[in-house]
Amino acid sequence: MEREKFGGRLGAILALAGSAIGLGNIWRFPYMVGENGGAVFIIIYIAATLLLSLPIFFAEFIIGRRTQSNCIGAMKKLAPGTAWKWFGALSIFIPLFILSYYSVVGGWSLEYLVQACSLTFTNADAVEVRGLFGEFITGTWGPLVFFTIYLLLVLGVILGGVRKGIEKFSKLTIPLLFILVVIIAVYSVSLPGSSAGIAYLVRPDWSKVTPATLVNALGQSFYSMSLGMGIIITYSSYIKKQENPVVTGFATGVSDFLFAIIASFAIIPAVFSAGIEPGAGPGLIFETLPFIFTSLSETMPVLSSIIAILFFLTILIAALTSSVSLMEVGVAYFVDEKKMKRSSASLLVFTMVWIAGAVCSLSFGPLKGITLLGNNIFDIFDKFASNFLLLIGGMLTLVFVGWKMDKEAVRDEFTSSGKARGSRRLFESTYFLIKYVAPVLLGIVFIANFL
Ligand code: PFF
Repeated sequence: MEREKFGGRLGAILALAGSAIGLGNIWRFPYMVGENGGAVFIIIYIAATLLLSLPIFFAEFIIGRRTQSNCIGAMKKLAPGTAWKWFGALSIFIPLFILSYYSVVGGWSLEYLVQACSLTFTNADAVEVRGLFGEFITGTWGPLVFFTIYLLLVLGVILGGVRKGIEKFSKLTIPLLFILVVIIAVYSVSLPGSSAGIAYLVRPDWSKVTPATLVNALGQSFYSMSLGMGIIITYSSYIKKQENPVVTGFATGVSDFLFAIIASFAIIPAVFSAGIEPGAGPGLIFETLPFIFTSLSETMPVLSSIIAILFFLTILIAALTSSVSLMEVGVAYFVDEKKMKRSSASLLVFTMVWIAGAVCSLSFGPLKGITLLGNNIFDIFDKFASNFLLLIGGMLTLVFVGWKMDKEAVRDEFTSSGKARGSRRLFESTYFLIKYVAPVLLGIVFIANFL
């Protein structure tokens, strides 16, 4: 049977953008901008994307589209009989590992969407609302049930297939995500006292720019574009030969960046308007923001309830499109290599992720006693994946394409056999970035994580 493909350029770009736009854009980027010098950080972030993330994106794209295979199949074709198959295996393991704890957070956003719809944030007391999060995640059944429903939603999209599932879902949700986040941003900047938040985001503050700023920009850009974990390899294997890699890469990078910027204006001005300190991570979206919605409901109950619903809907959709891409990497492997039916492969991956995810979900409640250096299982998963596994995956991708693959094959794929407009001129500089610059930059991030 012929392998499924994305229908066209738009579908492919929206699916890739869906993978890139996720929780990272919402709970990490806005805070990072403010804490690292505002406008200065934004410029450094763009440079990091051009020098590190896009070269890795292109490297993954070249592997995926050239082989039209899943991560292990790709290595079997490009480096048969070598240890590179372990790189393929790692690229399949990482996203499934990440999906298990990412879906726990997906479950929390679903629960908060339900709470927002039942007007919990409108009627309660602001301080109480802030405490709800701790109460919820330490429970046993509540988080487990929402995590399961969330993962079933991801499964539903995957079962639809590449075109009727992933592509259709992305075409529907990505435009919606942008509309939602713009509405929230307009509301947020119109709140009294929001100007301090705007200043926090845009005012260039050189005093906050340190070597750590550089590492933060590189790490965030890399994470945000979903690199180092086989996703771009897998999605590119569904992209037709005539599509231009340069256009696809830039379109993904630009939409991811734009969403992160608009999300910053949706969140930070509202936080400043409420007179509280912005933070990052789960606390920002599940404690700080509900607190703001409740405080605002005293003066504008209807509007703040609507915004609360739209906000958690945005988080849920952003998480879902990323989770779909994480799951697809494993499904593609079982379908291509083990010749399983898509439905059986999807159910198998669902079961594996559910088991690991259930452990993560319980690690705030019944399993909270299991810790390593003060981290519970959820944190261990997150730190091990983001600070270690992803970087190894990214580095191996660069070494493979820059040092192992034949340069002419890389050129042929990058330029779509010379036919992709503008790509021939960009090839030599991109190849130089893949071979030398990006590995050094990624190495810096890796070392900095251990310091
Ligand atoms: N790029 C997505 C995000 O920023 O949330 C998806 C993602 C990337 C999830 C890397 C998890 C991860 F470790």
